Amino acid sequence: MPSLQGALNSVENADRDHLVRLSRTFLRVEEIIDSVSDLQRLLDLIMRESEQVVDAETSSLLLFDHLNEELYFEIAHGPQGESVKTIRLPLDESSIAGATAIRRVPINIPDVRESRYWNSQVDKETDFQTRNLLAVPMQRQDRLIGVIEVLNKRQGVCFTEQDTDVLMVLASLAAIAIENAQLYEEKLQSERLAALGQAVAGISHYIKNVLTGLRGSMSLIDTAIQDHEYELLEKSMVVLRRSYGRIHHLVRDMLSYSKGREPNPRAVSPNEIILEIFDLMNESASSKDIEIVLDLDKTMPILWVDPDAMEGIVLNLITNAIDAVYERSLINPNPPGKIWITTYYAAETLTVCVRDNGTGISEAQQKRIWTAFYSTKGSSGTGLGLAVTRKVIEEAGGTLVLNSTLGSGSEFSFSLPAPPI
Ligand SMILES: Nc1ncnc2c1ncn2[C@@H]1O[C@H](COP(=O)(O)OP(=O)(O)OP(=O)(O)O)[C@@H](O)[C@H]1O
Ligand SMILES: [Mg+2]
Repeated sequence: MPSLQGALNSVENADRDHLVRLSRTFLRVEEIIDSVSDLQRLLDLIMRESEQVVDAETSSLLLFDHLNEELYFEIAHGPQGESVKTIRLPLDESSIAGATAIRRVPINIPDVRESRYWNSQVDKETDFQTRNLLAVPMQRQDRLIGVIEVLNKRQGVCFTEQDTDVLMVLASLAAIAIENAQLYEEKLQSERLAALGQAVAGISHYIKNVLTGLRGSMSLIDTAIQDHEYELLEKSMVVLRRSYGRIHHLVRDMLSYSKGREPNPRAVSPNEIILEIFDLMNESASSKDIEIVLDLDKTMPILWVDPDAMEGIVLNLITNAIDAVYERSLINPNPPGKIWITTYYAAETLTVCVRDNGTGISEAQQKRIWTAFYSTKGSSGTGLGLAVTRKVIEEAGGTLVLNSTLGSGSEFSFSLPAPPI
């Protein structure tokens, strides 16, 4: 690595004072890289260190835009730093930065007026007068990352060979920091894309399943109309309504997951809400030989809670419980399937517990089930239920606790702040 060799030379040839200054700079830059996570700020600090160690009036850091093959100012100290940031330099020898980037070697210009690379555009736009300048390339392996420039040596006529060596080391440290940040951003982006792909795949699968139900009921309706079969028409309408309900819930869940909703509390009787949900779900549970047992707090007052949020939460938890109990009963019919719903009220907090004797959830799985689009139900689940449930509870200032043992069942218990009326 030429930069490291240069630094060693510079260390060998340095006097004691210079050596101390160098070691301090490298230590400080190392510390900056370790402790500052914001790339812009990190580069800004590295450039300030660079200015100090080579005794320059000001400095800039240009990054290479691979797409447009141009260099642009990422950091520009000096009086008109912000206006410099609009300037883009082509990757050719019409500027010192361009020439440094193409040749991949440092360029030290003792007097810019005598340099054929000198491009006065930046000076004109910033009212700054450059006397001398040192530019070094930033690269990782063979990849060009950008160029660092220091301008106007304060003491002395121009930048020295020692300055060049030191700046090369600082440039390679900055290059590592930039590359790490770029890799991290790329990784985040590919993770986001992968998650999106997974989500789209899951939803498409689910919708395809619903569409199959819709197509089936449509052809049944056709037959029923042709044959004037009223009973068949009624049956088909049940399937049609179920399919509509599934799409409706999917859209509702996706909206509340992506947008969130403002809690809309009203004076309600939580036990009444549970009784309504019981009426709604009991038929589907008993068709699977599952008993729903209610244990409702008889002293429950009328409370100030959001009934839609509460209904959505309990419906999601009961639907999951029915699925888990049914899945277990297919493998092992004993004990008989049961779901217990308990409510109680204390310290202005409403607590609702949904317990089942279904499959239970392994410890490893307990960490994953809250992630949107995570489902073990193939095309019959979207994996949005728990993600939305948890979000709605948290938006209402409540908490959700899970206790589950694989093979024995699960208990989801949520609490919502609920002042009495
Ligand atoms: N009571 C439960 N018992 C066992 N496993 C459960 C229970 N509740 C949730 N799970 C597991 O958590 C996963 C995620 O649940 P979630 O409600 O988010 O999605 P889903 O039920 O698969 O689909 P949907 O979005 O249609 O509700 C389920 O696929 C299931 O594996
Ligand atoms: Mg669910």
